[in-house]
Amino acid sequence: MKALILSGGKGTRLRPLTYTGAKQLVPVANKPILWYGIEALISAGISDIGIIISPETGDEIQRKTGNGSKFGINITYIVQNSPDGLAHAVKIAQPFLGDSPFVMYLGDNLIADDLTQYLQEFKEQNLDALILLRKVSNPSAFGVATVNEKGEVLALVEKPKNPPSNLALVGIYFFSPQIHRSISTLKPSARGELEITDAIQKLLEDKKLVSARQLKNWWLDTGKKDDLLEANRIILDTNLTAENLGRIEGNTQLIGRVKIGKNTKIINSTIRGPVIIGENCYIENCFIGPYSSIADNVTLTESDLEHSVVLESAQILNIQQRIVDSVIGQRAKINLVSKRPKALSLMIGDDSHIELT
Ligand code: DAU
Repeated sequence: MKALILSGGKGTRLRPLTYTGAKQLVPVANKPILWYGIEALISAGISDIGIIISPETGDEIQRKTGNGSKFGINITYIVQNSPDGLAHAVKIAQPFLGDSPFVMYLGDNLIADDLTQYLQEFKEQNLDALILLRKVSNPSAFGVATVNEKGEVLALVEKPKNPPSNLALVGIYFFSPQIHRSISTLKPSARGELEITDAIQKLLEDKKLVSARQLKNWWLDTGKKDDLLEANRIILDTNLTAENLGRIEGNTQLIGRVKIGKNTKIINSTIRGPVIIGENCYIENCFIGPYSSIADNVTLTESDLEHSVVLESAQILNIQQRIVDSVIGQRAKINLVSKRPKALSLMIGDDSHIELT
């Protein structure tokens, strides 16, 4: 059994962060989203993983993730020259996949369920496709399944205007090599992509064995800011254990589960967990509230922050208001200076969002 993780694509919905980096490398609780997928596949017993990358962000993904040795597995990178669809990605991965059954995992998805049980059912029942579903409130944004009372899949449709149900396709699929034949018959969809949803629909039309399971626990497609913050909240809530490898000075209080990395210095501050702070950070006279993740090399002074994700080497200095529900990009700098006349002075990247109250 092999796995194929899709980490190409454009990441338009997480701009501006994705102008300079891959969306699959945006951290959740200080770990790239992609690595959660790799770890989920490893815990289901898979050790041969192909990763689809784009020419724009592929180098960064390879540099950070490596050849698999840090996870104890083999990783093969496959470059997709343009984002021509999920089924196109499978097509170009065929030399890697060969005749092996495989799990296809969208690199920006996070789930809480263990994949082992689904993998077992897929194998035991000799299925051609096993898809995972989850009820959502906005099915038009996803692939949508029609399922009968017995739970059998009747039809699938990609991002329908009038969704036939509220059951969305989760970005994790189990396939037999039969899917390659189905993909070879596809034509590009209205959005110009070869859709994996259409390939599975073709399997259904050809009376192949397609089955579906509904996820038991949460699923997040981390493509947008609010989803990213929600993923961060859930992972910190469920996975974080307290640890302090840094230096705490002055009147600093650590409350609840707080994890602090090496060479980080915290002076006269209150940190209320769950909070993760990376290595080489400097924090002075701050309050850092629940559900915040601070990456390496961040400086925070005279500021309050809560339910936010701060990326590497950002600086937040002297802000007199509380920062909430925010994602601050790599090397971004927010600084309050006491100068008259009072005014905002901004240098903001394309597609940034700033809310002032
Ligand atoms: O998240 C679940 C949804 O994922 C499903 O419900 C849909 O049926 C499925 O089509 C897919 O829809 P999205 O529009 O969310 O897919 P997105 O374009 O975000 O791509 C998903 C991942 O695959 C992302 O990590 C980028 C990568 N990708 C995407 C394309 C189009 C590639 O590697 N190559 C591609 O050509």
